[in-house]
Amino acid sequence: MDICIKSGSPDKQRTACVIVGVYEARKLSFAAALIDRAANGYLSDVLKCGDMEGKLGSTLLLHAVPNTLCDRVMLVGLGKELEFQAKEYREVIRASVKSLAKTSASEAVSYLSEITIKKHNVEWMIEQATVATLDVMYRFDRFKSKIDDSLCALRKLTLTVSRRTDLAVGVKGLARGLAIASGMRFAKDMGNLPGNICTPTYLAESAREMATQLGAEAEILGESEIRALGMGAFLSVSQGSDEPPYLIVLKHYGAKDKQVRPVVLIGKGITFDTGGISLKPGEAMDEMKFDMCGAAAVLGAFRAVAEMKLPINLVAIVPACENMPSGHAIKPGDIVTSMSGQTIEILDTDAEGRLILCDALTYAERFTPAAVIDVATLTGACIVALGHVLSGLFSNHDALARELLEAGEVVGDRAWHMPLNEEYHEQLQSPFADMVNFGGRPAGSITAACFLSRYAKAYDWAHLDIAGTATRTGKDKGATGRPVPLLVQFLQARANPALAKVVRRKSG
Ligand code: BES
Ligand code: MG
Ligand code: ZN
Repeated sequence: MDICIKSGSPDKQRTACVIVGVYEARKLSFAAALIDRAANGYLSDVLKCGDMEGKLGSTLLLHAVPNTLCDRVMLVGLGKELEFQAKEYREVIRASVKSLAKTSASEAVSYLSEITIKKHNVEWMIEQATVATLDVMYRFDRFKSKIDDSLCALRKLTLTVSRRTDLAVGVKGLARGLAIASGMRFAKDMGNLPGNICTPTYLAESAREMATQLGAEAEILGESEIRALGMGAFLSVSQGSDEPPYLIVLKHYGAKDKQVRPVVLIGKGITFDTGGISLKPGEAMDEMKFDMCGAAAVLGAFRAVAEMKLPINLVAIVPACENMPSGHAIKPGDIVTSMSGQTIEILDTDAEGRLILCDALTYAERFTPAAVIDVATLTGACIVALGHVLSGLFSNHDALARELLEAGEVVGDRAWHMPLNEEYHEQLQSPFADMVNFGGRPAGSITAACFLSRYAKAYDWAHLDIAGTATRTGKDKGATGRPVPLLVQFLQARANPALAKVVRRKSG
C-alpha cells in the first residue's frame, strides 16, 4: 500500500474518502469544521441525530456530503479532547484504517494526522500514523491457495499536514515510518512462517539476503565454526535436531568511523521449541514456531536502521537452531561448558533459550559494545507476570534501562523494568556445576535473566523478555512485530549526533 503526504483543504479533496475527527460532546476537529462549513452545517446536523457521539475509535461513514469533492466522509471518534494523547492517536488511526478497509474505497485522505498533541511534532505524527496504518493492513496469506481480493480495496492513503511548510518534515516522518513498518513486516513474516519452512538455514539465508539488499555485512557461522569458538551451551541445544545450527552476524557501519563502539542486538532464534527431552505438552505447541521472534525482531530492527541509514554502528547476532528430542538430544543432568568457560548443569532442556543466548553474549564481547540488548521469547513466566501488554525489561545498568523504557513510551511499544536482585541468584546454584539452567518456578523470568546476567558482565546490558508481546493468540493469532518499534526508537535516539557520545574502542 502507498502512503503519501500532502496539505490542503478537506472539502477540496477529490478522493474516495476524506477522514476527519470528532471529539466527544460532538465537537468537530479543525478539519471536520471546515467540511461542516462548506457543507452548510451538514456534519453538525448528522451529529445532532446522535449516531456519532465522538467515542474514541468509533466511526461513521457519510456519503454525498454537500459541497465536497469526495465520495465519502468518514467521521472518527476522538474521545475526550483533554485526554487525547499519543495512545489515543494511534488508536484512532488504527480504527479509521480498519473501518476504511471494509469499504470499497481504494484511496483516502486522512486529516487525523493534523491533530496536535502536546510534546509531539509533525514528524512523529506522520511516522506513527504510517506505522499504525501498515500494521493494521498487514496480512499473512502466503499459504492460502485462494486470496479474496475483494476483502480490501485500499491501495493508497494520503496523510495530511496542516501547513505547506510542514511538508518536508512530514516526508521525513513518512520515511522513518516506512522503515519501521518494513522492519516490523520482516519480523512478522519470519515469526508467522511455520517451523518446517523457517528453519535455522532459512533464517540464515533470509538474513544474508537482507544484508546484501541493504549493503550491510553478513557473516554466517556454521556448526564447525561454532564448535571452534567453544560454544558448548549453544551446541547442546542444537544437538538433538537434524537441522544444522547457525550463528548469524550482521553489521551496519553507519557512524562516521568504523571504530565507534557499536550497539549489539542479540535475538533468540529457536525456530521450533518442542522442549527437547523435557518435552512440552501438546496443547498450543504449534505456537513454539514463534520462538524465534526475538531473532526476527532484531533482524527487523536491523533492517529499519539500515534503510534509514542511521548514523550508528550496529551489530545483530542471532544464534539459530531447533530444540528437539532425539537419541542425540541433551538430557536433564547433563553438564556443558559455555564459551565463557562457566559450566552449566542442564536440569530442564526446555530452558534452552538462555543456553543459546549465553554463548552469543560472550561472543558479543569481541565488539567492545557500547551496549548489548538481547531480545527473547524466554519464559512463560513473563506472560504470567505481564501478559501480552508489556515486555519484561532487565538490565545491569539503570541508565540503559531508562533509555529503553523511554523509547518504548515514545512509540507505544512499552516495557516494564523488572528486578535482578542478588538473592534470586541462589536459585541457580548447582551441586555439580557452576550453575543450573533452571531455577524452579518462582520468579521464572527473573532467574532466567539472572542466568543471562552472568554472561553479560563485560558491558552495559539489557534483556527484553518478549514471550507475551511478540505474539497474539486466539483468533488473531500471529506475530506482532514487537519490539521493533522500541528498538528502532532507542537506536534513533542513540544515533542522534547531538545526544550520542562518540566513545572510541580501546586500542588493541
Ligand atoms: N520458548 C519458551 C518460553 C515461552 C513459553 C515463550 C510460552 C512463549 C510462550 C522457553 O524456551 C521455555 O520453554 N521456557 C520454560 C522455562 C522453564 C523450563 C524454566 C517455561 O517458560 O516454561
Ligand atoms: Mg523452551
Ligand atoms: Zn524456547
